[in-house]
Amino acid sequence: MDKLLIEGGVPLSGEVSISGAKNAALPLICAALLTDRPLTLSNVPHLNDVTTMLRLLVQMGVDVTLDERNSLVLNACGLNRPEAPYDMVKTMRASILTLGPLLARAGRARVSLPGGCAIGARPVDIHIRGLQAMGADICVEHGYILAQAQRLRGARIFCDLVTVTGTENLMMAAALADGTTVIENAAREPEVVDLANCLNAMGAKVSGAGGDIVTVEGVERLAGAEHRIMPDRIETGTFLVAAAVTGGRVRLNGTHCGILDAVVEKLREAGARIDCHRDSIEISADGPLSAVSLRTAPYPAFPTDMQAQFMALNCVARGTGVITETIFENRFMHAQELRRLGADIEISGNTTVVKGVPRLDGATVMATDLRASACLVVAGLVARGETLIDRIYHLDRGYEHIEEKLSQLGARIRRVH
Ligand code: UD1
Repeated sequence: MDKLLIEGGVPLSGEVSISGAKNAALPLICAALLTDRPLTLSNVPHLNDVTTMLRLLVQMGVDVTLDERNSLVLNACGLNRPEAPYDMVKTMRASILTLGPLLARAGRARVSLPGGCAIGARPVDIHIRGLQAMGADICVEHGYILAQAQRLRGARIFCDLVTVTGTENLMMAAALADGTTVIENAAREPEVVDLANCLNAMGAKVSGAGGDIVTVEGVERLAGAEHRIMPDRIETGTFLVAAAVTGGRVRLNGTHCGILDAVVEKLREAGARIDCHRDSIEISADGPLSAVSLRTAPYPAFPTDMQAQFMALNCVARGTGVITETIFENRFMHAQELRRLGADIEISGNTTVVKGVPRLDGATVMATDLRASACLVVAGLVARGETLIDRIYHLDRGYEHIEEKLSQLGARIRRVH
């Protein structure tokens, strides 16, 4: 199994390009299931989760090719097996995003129920109830969601909790339903807006995305389209934190502050200087940062996917920071690993209190989930001596060439087999 070896203490410096967003790419790939015409996606990140999603679609009968401009062309005219087997869903929960499109286009779907995962139970009841409200006949048997509907019909759906993939699944299903669907308490994440824009380019009638009420007027059929995937705001945020904690000066290209205001604001509060441009962000920091307190919540509030990286920041900051996680019930596993590097962290329920220490010392640590891995990389970059991070397959699910990009910024980091 691959590991990452980092020798900390080098301030990051230089420029790097931010990749297309994983959490936008996955629903956009599923949107191809809604039409028998080609959907062309550019700025697709090279990530294991993207490969898994493509493999899933290929076994459904979707034709996947790369065109001469390195764009992904998906053609679901041969869709013949509307199924997502357990083997694939267990490695990537986002496979649930095939449920809505399959049901809307093929009239039936058999999608494995995702299990719990390291960060929490993560049920999909809101996805299921929403589709049922649209007239789908759904039962769960032998660990599979079996769904059928001649034609879905528009409905008013109130989501009990704000769910990102739930909103996306329902939006895609509603695009081909008979009549108008209104999704209330919808997720407002930029990735939801990116999906809505692509669906509209395909001929859908989605309005209100980015707000908490999304209205979808169903259409008879969708056409093909070309769409450029938005930049990854979590990769952006991770590189910003890495630059700030190492006291570096970095320019991130192909991204912008507008998709991560809450993160930028917290970094400024910590003492980093950030300049926002139309298509790039510059950050610099000198001297120790100040610890920040934050609370995760659905967009536009502070993202749960950046919580772990900010915990690493607080570990080496001046003062004490209190972090409260409100989205997932078990998302502090990185705290234990950070303690192995010498961090002073106390956990009480869904809150951690981190007292900054003058320095972290390198050690062997283990990645437990995707963003926890990113937090360990950030900590390793600032720790004295060598940090060896085990189980980095989590990292490869969501960060494109992370060690290459960090090396480009001067970090001493390499992959060991
Ligand atoms: C998405 C992101 C993930 C991010 C998360 C929260 C993708 C592919 N993944 O995950 O990176 O961490 O949003 O911003 O976009 N819930 C239910 N029932 C449901 C659905 C959700 O109880 O039917 C709960 C979840 O357990 C969780 C909360 O709602 O506590 C939010 O989850 P949700 O927004 O659905 O997360 P994902 O869409 O899975």
